[in-house]
Amino acid sequence: MRIRIIGLPMDLGQSQRGVDMGPGALRYAGLFARLQRLGYEVEDIGNLDVPVRDNLVNEKELRYLPSIKAVSEEAYRAARRAVEEGWIPIFMGGDHSVSIGTIGGVTHHEPTGVIWIDAHGDFNTPDTSETGNIHGMSLAVLLGEGYQELVDVGRPGAKLQPSDVVMIGVRELDAEERNRLRRSGVGVYSMRDIDERGIGTITREALSRLSHLRRLHVTLDMDGLDPGEVPGVGTTSPGGLTYRESQLLMEIIADAKRLTSLDIVEINPILDHQNRTAKLAVELAASVFGKRII
Ligand code: ARG
Ligand code: MN
Ligand code: MN
Ligand code: MN
Repeated sequence: MRIRIIGLPMDLGQSQRGVDMGPGALRYAGLFARLQRLGYEVEDIGNLDVPVRDNLVNEKELRYLPSIKAVSEEAYRAARRAVEEGWIPIFMGGDHSVSIGTIGGVTHHEPTGVIWIDAHGDFNTPDTSETGNIHGMSLAVLLGEGYQELVDVGRPGAKLQPSDVVMIGVRELDAEERNRLRRSGVGVYSMRDIDERGIGTITREALSRLSHLRRLHVTLDMDGLDPGEVPGVGTTSPGGLTYRESQLLMEIIADAKRLTSLDIVEINPILDHQNRTAKLAVELAASVFGKRII
């Protein structure tokens, strides 16, 4: 099995500086070697081009929509090509707006189940968002709602059906975003569900909700974990997944043997302590790609 690592240093979907350094942080944390040691053939094709924010003053009012669209088209092509060439792509963000392109691209030929691990819903539209930040809208866009320019990235229209998505770790939704998510048909496992029923049960249930799909994509927003574990994220939310819960989540997904692509997003090395967040992300990647304790 072959894994292709692709960097997407996009920081335009939100306001904090630093998430563009996520790909570097994951490389320094040893992602490549870790996967190689598990027996995969690994290649790293470097980073896709992302415009520098300082050069985009005229896009600020537009929330960088033109540039996010352009990068999303590139990400879509890279994702589509990786699948066509028989690679399992790992996309290193960047903020969560990168998933508009990556998930769009991996679903080009065949519907794919998505496990969205996040403290947030990323289910805002321009009308419901309280910040205007596009990283808080990615899932809505993938389901066909919000900025039409983004909905139509790669191919026209929605890229996912609500029944193709489950969210795990949710604990912070904006008021209108919450109403939208409740009505959407997306499977949502909140922190409360995890506290009451345990991450093992939740993960198995999530997988069985996606059992109609042969291919699975995991989109791992590192803020889904507890900020005590991962200080290096921009939008922290208390009460997240613990180290062990996130490991078990990954291990159970690995057992399903259907993982065909992965995003690791929202790592902000400027806010981190000694690259701890990227190091944990590499451990989680190893688990989801089949690392076994014994
Ligand atoms: N709901 C908030 C917003 O719309 C936070 C979104 C955080 N998203 C993320 N990908 N970290 O701005
Ligand atoms: Mn997110
Ligand atoms: Mn988040
Ligand atoms: Mn700190």
